[in-house]
Amino acid sequence: MSITLNSPLDMHLHLRDEAMLNTVGPLTSDTFSGAIIMPNLVPPVTTKEALLAYKERILKACNNDAFTPYMTLFFQATYTKEFLESVKDELTAIKLYPAGITTNSEGGLSGFDVDELRPTLDAMSELNIPLCVHGETNGFVMDREAEFVSIYEMLATNFPKLKIIMEHITTKESVEALDRFENLYATITLHHLLITLDDVAGGMLQPHLFCKPIAKRPEDREALQKVALEGHPKVMFGSDSAPHPQHAKEACGCAAGVFTAPIALQVLTEFFVEHSSVEKLQAFVSDNAQSIYTNIEIPSKTIILEEKKFKVPNKYAEVVPMFAGETLKYSIAEIK
Ligand code: NCD
Ligand code: ZN
Repeated sequence: MSITLNSPLDMHLHLRDEAMLNTVGPLTSDTFSGAIIMPNLVPPVTTKEALLAYKERILKACNNDAFTPYMTLFFQATYTKEFLESVKDELTAIKLYPAGITTNSEGGLSGFDVDELRPTLDAMSELNIPLCVHGETNGFVMDREAEFVSIYEMLATNFPKLKIIMEHITTKESVEALDRFENLYATITLHHLLITLDDVAGGMLQPHLFCKPIAKRPEDREALQKVALEGHPKVMFGSDSAPHPQHAKEACGCAAGVFTAPIALQVLTEFFVEHSSVEKLQAFVSDNAQSIYTNIEIPSKTIILEEKKFKVPNKYAEVVPMFAGETLKYSIAEIK
């Protein structure tokens, strides 16, 4: 059986910089038409100059005309309307991190005061710049995302014209919030469709499955699977593929992030086929994102996958992918 995907998009991706960018960039740009590029470099991307320079480095590393990096800035409540107008044509979204919540987010927001946020978020609403949010409080690790839903509600009601993307959702509470507010959308990762906390820490600790937000309970995974498999129009694929070198993962103080870029389409195909929903995969990996992000242009690319074994490499340079050394059921047969 072969499956054809048109212009797959990864709406949440970490490409890093320098040697790591050179390793991981092509692993996405070969098979995806575009990706939302996260700005959590050190230092984070907060200026037009830094954004344009990073985009150049990405294009050079990827060397692929049929791939567009959709650039983002790291949210600061000090961005003025004037500044946003000047940078609007260069970016696709702005990513908001609560301070210290995940990798390289120390410069994020330390509180959610509507009055403080209003000038920037009003300007973003007017300029049609979506706000991507890492939605976790600093509460108990299993409750962080559910606790953040009230902040999503505050943002959604105070800024009704702002497109708010709940990034990498992991809970049934976030899924429920989607249908309560017109301007809330979500990305879902591959790994959160597949694993629960049990897979991370239920047996021997699996550092390569450790990420933020941490995988949750079976009923949460079920809620995510349901909206992904039905092609819910407010839900998009965002891999949150977040490479760290092996020594940073297999360490005392393991870095958060799962590296899925090179296996994402193959495993998504298997997952959708096994759940008799393969006809919804196109919506999940591209069409929904195209309807939600009205400000992107999408290079045309056709990916044909076939039912043929693919042995996942143990490593890509210094990075261990999800399913390292395992054999997947689908492989990429053709890229046009
Ligand atoms: C991401 C990273 O490593 O940059 N890590 C992760 O666990 N997902 C940051 C993020 O998206 O939270
Ligand atoms: Zn991320």
